[in-house]
Amino acid sequence: MRVIRVADYQEMSDLCASLVVAQIKAKPDIVLGVPTGGTPLGMYARLVETFRAGEVDVRRASFFNLDEYVGLPHEHAQSYHAYMRRHLYDQVEDAFTPENLHVPDGNAGDLQKACESYEAAIRAAGGMDLCMLGIGANGHVAFNEPGCSLASRVRVVRLAERTVLDNARFFADPATVPRHAMTMGTGTIRDARALILLASGEGKAAAVAAALEGPVTSRCPASIVQLHPRVVFLVDEAAASGLTVRHPSWEEYRSDPHAETFLFQ
Ligand code: GLP
Repeated sequence: MRVIRVADYQEMSDLCASLVVAQIKAKPDIVLGVPTGGTPLGMYARLVETFRAGEVDVRRASFFNLDEYVGLPHEHAQSYHAYMRRHLYDQVEDAFTPENLHVPDGNAGDLQKACESYEAAIRAAGGMDLCMLGIGANGHVAFNEPGCSLASRVRVVRLAERTVLDNARFFADPATVPRHAMTMGTGTIRDARALILLASGEGKAAAVAAALEGPVTSRCPASIVQLHPRVVFLVDEAAASGLTVRHPSWEEYRSDPHAETFLFQ
């Protein structure tokens, strides 16, 4: 696992985007797991610039969202369907292949079947090469809340009260924040061949410390990263403030002659 300290949100976003672009160039038919939330917005903005400039071709790449609210219409501004269109898919004309863009269907008549189909679709695509993740203030990844099974697959979950409160800022009426979501499980995420985690801001410091220095426990689902062989965790100074282990900055990391070979180890 490579934990890399970055100065701030902007450096985290730029660095993450450049790592993703490098991975797409290395494997044009890459299968990506993609997150939502406030944290990845800067990274998506950078990707949009890169795709607009034609620096990399993403038509063969597949995208699988980590999660989606249950019961929120796809057109609802806060649905993750709408989020992905707004921040990435509709931003670059003709860049993406629509059949390669996947978001869980939280409005399916048969949710159980939709969960199984989503899991099967990831498998059919060859499994995720790279899954990007944010981290909740309570240590959740995707919508795997504290107390979940660390081997879980795509399923419907009830959101923790903390998560509902955290996400209320995106809704005009906090009372309308959905209580359930369809999410990749921690087992689904662990099957990805590589992970990139992003954490920015003091509000994430406790969760980052628990994920990286605490025990691997369902109390902090993000702690699964400790068991994954290929993880890059980009943490800005504020989010790293609860860590006792000192990790290299990107500058330090980059000046290491072996950096390229061990980035995803
Ligand atoms: C949301 C998403 C997660 C995200 C997390 C943090 O509820 N389901 O995938 O990582 O919460 O969000 P933010 O980046 O806005 O802090």
